[in-house]
Amino acid sequence: DWTMESFIELQIAEIQAKVGKGHVLCALSGGVDSSVAAALVHRAIGNQLTCVFVDHGFMRKNEAEQVKKIFTEQFQLNLVFVDVHERFMQKLEGVSDPEAKRKAIGNEFIRVFEVEALKLGKVDFLVQGTLYPDIVESGTETAETIKSHHNVGGLPDDIEFELIEPLRMLFKDEVRELGIQLGMSEEIVWRQPFPGPGLAIRILGEVTREKLDILREADAIILEEIRRSGMYRDLWQSFAVLPSIKSVGVMGDGRTYEYPIILRAVTSEDAMTADWARLPYELLQSISSRIVNEVQGVNRVVYDITSKPPGTIEWE
Ligand code: XMP
Repeated sequence: DWTMESFIELQIAEIQAKVGKGHVLCALSGGVDSSVAAALVHRAIGNQLTCVFVDHGFMRKNEAEQVKKIFTEQFQLNLVFVDVHERFMQKLEGVSDPEAKRKAIGNEFIRVFEVEALKLGKVDFLVQGTLYPDIVESGTETAETIKSHHNVGGLPDDIEFELIEPLRMLFKDEVRELGIQLGMSEEIVWRQPFPGPGLAIRILGEVTREKLDILREADAIILEEIRRSGMYRDLWQSFAVLPSIKSVGVMGDGRTYEYPIILRAVTSEDAMTADWARLPYELLQSISSRIVNEVQGVNRVVYDITSKPPGTIEWE
């Protein structure tokens, strides 16, 4: 008879037996899976776990601070918070190709993570928030690009760790339930998926500080309005995209020449296919007027009405 309580007890016993007096490392991304995995391992072995959060500077508004707060204040686990956003901006200078951006970010991420791991001295185990569908899927996926796309196997090769994958038997809804049982907030466990390279692949072309600031503000407004409408959980993802073009607008007596914001909102089961969400006109209206009124540098909002296929969910 399977219950979440018995699952937690079994996992804790298994993790304790496996780890012994060893040291365990976990890369926190701020997403649901790594957060729940970290909380579970922390419950099992406490201070023998160290989590590393690499703040590459492409997280959504307030998200990095929120991760820091939850894991240091609520869970009181050992968190190494590495603010390396300057470094990542430098690495992306002049890079505009989507795959080149992903590679640059992925490589830099591994480099930073490795340095932090080495600082910790001896580490015996690495926690990964792998779910059951990830295991099944990565067995059948062959294309290199799909893998780099989804961060499967994006780990340092030259450090020897044994893996701890406490969520490997679970589906997403079970991970959410587990998170709640471990005391995580609804906000964390119901978080929509967010790509590893973050906002950097939602700015089309070269990433600059100005574009990043604009996108982050517009994205925050979209999420706020979608949460307020009660539709957040019904959507697979909902976010802003910033293209590197400008269009003419009018404000007061003057002509403006600014960026548009693209609103993307989709429903999906597994991200393999997706349908554009039929958001109510009133919601579209409030998102649009808030963005153009509140975000400096934006004079137009457009809605992406393309399903996947042929469109992808992200624009890069
Ligand atoms: P696409 O755009 O291919 O996205 O329809 C499918 C799902 O994958 C996410 N995605 C990524 N996740 N690193 C990630 O960790 C990436 O580089 C990446 N690219 C896309 C996307 O957000 C969607 O959920």
